[in-house]
Amino acid sequence: MVHLFSPQIVLSALLAFIRDAPSSSSSATSAGYSLHFDITNGWANLSPYKEADGFGVPKGVPRGCELSQVHILHRHAERYPESSWFDGEGMETFNRKLKSYSSEHNVSVGIGPLAFLKNWKYLLGRDILLATGTATEAVSGAEIWSKYGRMVYRAPPGMAVWDPELNVYPNGTRRATPTFRSTNKQRVLESAKWWLTGFFGPGHGNTSYNLVVIPEGNGLNNTLAAEHSCPGDLKEGTHASETFVPRMVKDPLARLSKYFPDDFDLTTSDVLAMMNFCPYEYATLGSSSFCDLFSEQEWLDFAYNLDLRLYGTSAFGSPTGRAQGIGYLLELSARLERKLIDSSDTSINTTYDNHSATFPVHQPLYMDMTHDKVIIGTITALGLQYFNYGPKGMPSNVSHAVPRKFQLNKVAPFGARLISEIWTCPEEASIEVLDKTLYANPDLSDTKSTTDFIRFVLNALDWTCPR
Ligand SMILES: *[C@@H]1O[C@H](CO)[C@@H](O)[C@H](O)[C@H]1NC(C)=O
Ligand SMILES: *[C@@H]1O[C@H](CO)[C@@H](O)[C@H](O)[C@H]1NC(C)=O
Ligand SMILES: *[C@@H]1O[C@H](CO)[C@@H](O)[C@H](O)[C@H]1NC(C)=O
Ligand SMILES: *[C@@H]1O[C@H](CO)[C@@H](O)[C@H](O)[C@H]1NC(C)=O
Ligand SMILES: *[C@@H]1O[C@H](CO)[C@@H](O)[C@H](O)[C@H]1NC(C)=O
Ligand SMILES: *[C@@H]1O[C@H](CO)[C@@H](O)[C@H](O)[C@H]1NC(C)=O
Ligand SMILES: *[C@@H]1O[C@H](CO)[C@@H](O)[C@H](O)[C@H]1NC(C)=O
Repeated sequence: MVHLFSPQIVLSALLAFIRDAPSSSSSATSAGYSLHFDITNGWANLSPYKEADGFGVPKGVPRGCELSQVHILHRHAERYPESSWFDGEGMETFNRKLKSYSSEHNVSVGIGPLAFLKNWKYLLGRDILLATGTATEAVSGAEIWSKYGRMVYRAPPGMAVWDPELNVYPNGTRRATPTFRSTNKQRVLESAKWWLTGFFGPGHGNTSYNLVVIPEGNGLNNTLAAEHSCPGDLKEGTHASETFVPRMVKDPLARLSKYFPDDFDLTTSDVLAMMNFCPYEYATLGSSSFCDLFSEQEWLDFAYNLDLRLYGTSAFGSPTGRAQGIGYLLELSARLERKLIDSSDTSINTTYDNHSATFPVHQPLYMDMTHDKVIIGTITALGLQYFNYGPKGMPSNVSHAVPRKFQLNKVAPFGARLISEIWTCPEEASIEVLDKTLYANPDLSDTKSTTDFIRFVLNALDWTCPR
């Protein structure tokens, strides 16, 4: 049977529904965020990609210079949680606890703001790239084609998308097939494929480019998964986070316990899990009923916990932070010098870097798909003191987040990218003079006394509009 509603009735029903929706905070939920508050900024490295603010550095195109090379170190995008206790395992444990309490006591758990738990289902998996992640990567590939690809490959006016005829040197000689790299971890590899689809368009996979897939794991050298080269040295961040988490969940634990049965015994780990559901369900389903349970301050603290953890795992707070980025930096420098690498005492695997088929050094554009830790390690190896909190590391024995520059939603959100631009400038050019837009990329290969400049751009594709 088909029910036909008159549009008027549907509309008034909808209006009634909207009027009934809670509009401000009650004692039950802590939501009712201020207008400027964007909850997705409070998820650190689980935040969706957003252009960063430029970190205070002016944007623009150095006038008269050639954009001669672009090197992109790219993070995979939205994924299911990983197995660690503070991530996937904690959420699975909460789910099991809820289910077994319900069946043992023949009740449905959760009243007041937690009433949604009656219909809630655990829908998350483990580790793999989500559909939202495929979109993030394809968008990035398309944006990088538009802003960089068409310039370094000198696409003629009117050409919309990649064409294989572009793969030539300025003198017309054909170049080798462009080669990109990824690890073999599903989320990284799938991210690479979607990024390449965005950059080249569909249908070019077998003809226009190669993808070198380097295995990652314990005992394996891989500059794109470098923590495996220093196993066991990632503890600083873990300790800091273990100190901070109980402080961070103190208030929500007290508040939310009231809506569980007395003997449910809501724990610190349960509350952390409930917070984690927000970003992960958002990435999986587009929204989450858990988000509103927590206040603005609690999301700032949630982000701080992840910042703290990764700061101590792969950044200035870690004894191996720089070591995790040095492999990629040596590769970047080898590409700049157009040299293969035949020996190394870092995370480099020379079996790959010793051959131009797997480590080409004459491309105008490179893309390596990796993890957040490698991007963080690389900015640390570069010595970008802007992100250095100070000699004692970020404090963990505090009740709330402290002000800091190292914020993962800006440094390494899902789909993050660290771009090294090489600008070749004639003697008379000044890199201080910036144009808004690059319309034509000059060919300065026959110009004498040029200087090459490198500019690192982190999560800010837009050259002109500071946000
Ligand atoms: C569980 O509760 C429902 C409704 O309250 C009731 O109908 C059912 O008989 C109960 N089952 C057991 C095993 O007690
Ligand atoms: C064209 O330029 C490339 C790169 O500079 C060079 O390797 C090649 O030999 C040149 N080809 C001709 C025909 O000059
Ligand atoms: C690409 O190559 C693979 C393996 O050779 C083949 O299975 C696939 O059909 C090819 N795809 C296209 C689009 O040609
Ligand atoms: C280097 O790569 C080769 C080819 O994948 C692999 O067989 C070898 O185990 C790797 N070595 C290290 C130390 O990762
Ligand atoms: C690198 O390749 C060169 C030439 O193919 C070879 O002579 C050398 O032994 C290789 N070195 C390593 C470490 O694989
Ligand atoms: C792997 O890394 C170790 C330590 O840096 C290095 O000694 C070894 O030669 C590397 N292996 C390969 C195949 O590159
Ligand atoms: C944590 O901070 C409190 C108050 O500032 C202090 O009393 C306590 O000793 C500190 N604990 C540790 C382990 O540093």
